[in-house]
Amino acid sequence: MKKDTPIPFEVVEKYVEQMGLENVGKASIREIKRLVDFIEEETGERYIRMEMGIPGLKPAAVGVEAEKAALDKGVAAIYPDIDGKKGLKKEISRFVKLFMNIEVQPHGCIPTVGSMQGSFATFMTVTRMKKEKDTILFLDPGFPVHKQQCRVQGTKFDSFDVYNYRGEKLRDKLESHLKDGNVAALLYSNPNNPSWICFTETELKIIGELATKYGVVVIEDLAYFAMDFRQDLSKPGEPPYQPTVANYTDQYVLLISSSKAFSYAGQRIGMMVISDTLFAKRSKDLLPYYGMEQFGRAMVFGTMYALSSGTAHSPQYALEAMLKAVNDGVYDFVDVVKEYGEKAKIMKKMFIDNGFRIVYDKDEDKPLADGFYFTISYPGFTGEKLIEALIYYGISAISLAITGSERLEGLRACVSLVGRDQFPDLEYRVKKFHEHHG
Ligand SMILES: Cc1ncc(COP(=O)(O)O)c(C=O)c1O
Repeated sequence: MKKDTPIPFEVVEKYVEQMGLENVGKASIREIKRLVDFIEEETGERYIRMEMGIPGLKPAAVGVEAEKAALDKGVAAIYPDIDGKKGLKKEISRFVKLFMNIEVQPHGCIPTVGSMQGSFATFMTVTRMKKEKDTILFLDPGFPVHKQQCRVQGTKFDSFDVYNYRGEKLRDKLESHLKDGNVAALLYSNPNNPSWICFTETELKIIGELATKYGVVVIEDLAYFAMDFRQDLSKPGEPPYQPTVANYTDQYVLLISSSKAFSYAGQRIGMMVISDTLFAKRSKDLLPYYGMEQFGRAMVFGTMYALSSGTAHSPQYALEAMLKAVNDGVYDFVDVVKEYGEKAKIMKKMFIDNGFRIVYDKDEDKPLADGFYFTISYPGFTGEKLIEALIYYGISAISLAITGSERLEGLRACVSLVGRDQFPDLEYRVKKFHEHHG
């Protein structure tokens, strides 16, 4: 390691030692955050913090106002319905019609405690629907917490990295994981955290067709709804719409987060949208757990009741107001979050100009969109070594290794917390890195 790094070498060494980190590259996201906090405090140098995926924008004001008014009205004293307040369910149903062009009855539109509760509840309920179907399949790379959810509930899971199986190649690979008949549901995020790949219509069709063929529920995680900025997905009721597997199968659960779309992460409210067909589906295997056979009822009055008995009341008012504003065309949420894509474009160029490569770089033949995340590597470095080295240059990120990616040379960089005022620093630091290692 060179000694004239932008962050004093000795300070980094001191805290790595103090925290007992044997391998900085293998540290968890939270450990890296803590290490960087210490170094920033001592040196007064601001890091280019790309390790955590937190929204970097203000919460949508229309939500905050509605929530305040609801609290003033006294809703905090009242238990909300387990499956959500009526007006909100109606707006969720309208939202998926206007922005995805799909029809789902309000009864299948359920607010959850963040999209995370939606996935937890779905894993739990779908793996009890058919005795022989007890496994969740992840199309990786993915969000590590989903696998953690499976671990803590004792649900089996399987996964593969889609990197080498884009386009038609996905069919055989996916079928090889479904043909044993043990998969209850598969999950992917689209756009994808961490790689920002977006499945093409060809790929969504393959997923939908195979899911129908093998009786598998598709859990489509839309945490970054409408954020493939290559197309304008912002106009309610007008194409193009957010691409979805719902066009190719009728057995799906959509998880739509409000954390990034409305910068509402702190209030932990998301949406679970269960297709009409899946909601109505019946199975005797559900009886021992729920005392009822219908999937939708088991989800609401079994799983959701047991988990949290619904979602906090006042954020439901916020979400309803935000959705109503976007559904009515009064509030353009896509325009607000476009900032992420614009920053990503500039930041990616700085890395590429200085010897870095983009790891996941294409959707079939199309260059990847610019958005919330991008992936980088540097020749001759593993992901772990690269994280470790970049810490000395005032740059933090996480290794793709923890996301189920087979691209062990890669890092995930998140743009949200990096201010535009830090761009000159970022440029200086990656240049310096390249100078030292090129
Ligand atoms: C792919 C993905 N799914 C789900 C979530 C969690 O969403 P929520 O905050 O709504 O629980 C995130 C948050 O970073 C995510 O990246």
